[in-house]
Amino acid sequence: QHQTIVKSMEQDKMNLKKFCDIITGAKNIYITGSGTSYHSALLAKQIFSKSKIHVETIMSSEFQYSSDMLDENSVLLAISQSGETADVIQSVKSARTMGAKVISIVNIPTSSLARLSDSYLEVNCGPEIGVAATKSFTSQIALLYYVADIIGRKSNGISSSKDILAKAVIQVLELDSQIERIADQLKHSKDVYILGRSLHFPICLEGALKIKELSYIHAEGMAAGELKHGPLALIDTNSIVIVLHPNDSTYGDTLSNIHTIKSRGAKIVGISNKKEALYDYQITIPTINESLYPLIEVIPLQLLAYHLSICNNGNPDYPRNLAKSVTVK
Ligand code: AGP
Repeated sequence: QHQTIVKSMEQDKMNLKKFCDIITGAKNIYITGSGTSYHSALLAKQIFSKSKIHVETIMSSEFQYSSDMLDENSVLLAISQSGETADVIQSVKSARTMGAKVISIVNIPTSSLARLSDSYLEVNCGPEIGVAATKSFTSQIALLYYVADIIGRKSNGISSSKDILAKAVIQVLELDSQIERIADQLKHSKDVYILGRSLHFPICLEGALKIKELSYIHAEGMAAGELKHGPLALIDTNSIVIVLHPNDSTYGDTLSNIHTIKSRGAKIVGISNKKEALYDYQITIPTINESLYPLIEVIPLQLLAYHLSICNNGNPDYPRNLAKSVTVK
């Protein structure tokens, strides 16, 4: 992923300009996707808003129930690794009937979605064999950061941090054996909660999806600020709570959530660039530009899901009941 994140930004300049012009020329922008690609859409909403671009996200499986908002002034950005997900294809066809423009971010340029798009960008991460989306996710979000920087005319954006990012990803990948040991401690857990705020919240959802689909352990991503509005009732001495907690603008508020959880006896796995004694397990990630933490903090969650699958004698490449591309609704 230290290579694919960089490759995702290697784009044909003319094609990239056409893609970005369609976004800036639209009156309203919608982003749709399924599963991991929907989590990319959720993160894109926050990334684009930092470039003063307002976008709405719609889960592709929900699009048919809420798509009357689109018209000839709209653009629908569809995100899909396979480019064949039935819910996404249906959303795109429906958007077209409403006169909206369709653009997409895909990993397979010969896919149906690419063919249905007025413009598309490839994430260039190479074939992704396992059912779980991993490198395609970090490539999707790296490319979304890049597009937002271009539209927002940012000079010191992600493209100027390629080397730092690649080094940071390598450092996180080198934590594999530590994460394997943590997985061995957590393998009999019944419920895993993943908490975070702001940009970290879509990564909480993505990490929970990885753990669910690979290890079959129930996992739930939560906005940390919502804890006292209900979910705290679930927390007890059997709970495992992973916290996305880098030393950024969310740090203090999330630290108070950690105190609350700790006082109820839960085990805490802290993913942070800053040492914190409250954690029962610390996964230390490198310090980078705080807006880019989603790109590296998801990797420990991918590795944890992988090792939890192995610990429980699962097949992390081909989990039960799931297909790499959901081509039927
Ligand atoms: C992710 O690990 C899953 N395999 C699944 O949620 C996947 O992201 C979803 O089916 C969408 O696939 P796509 O990106 O190919 O459209």
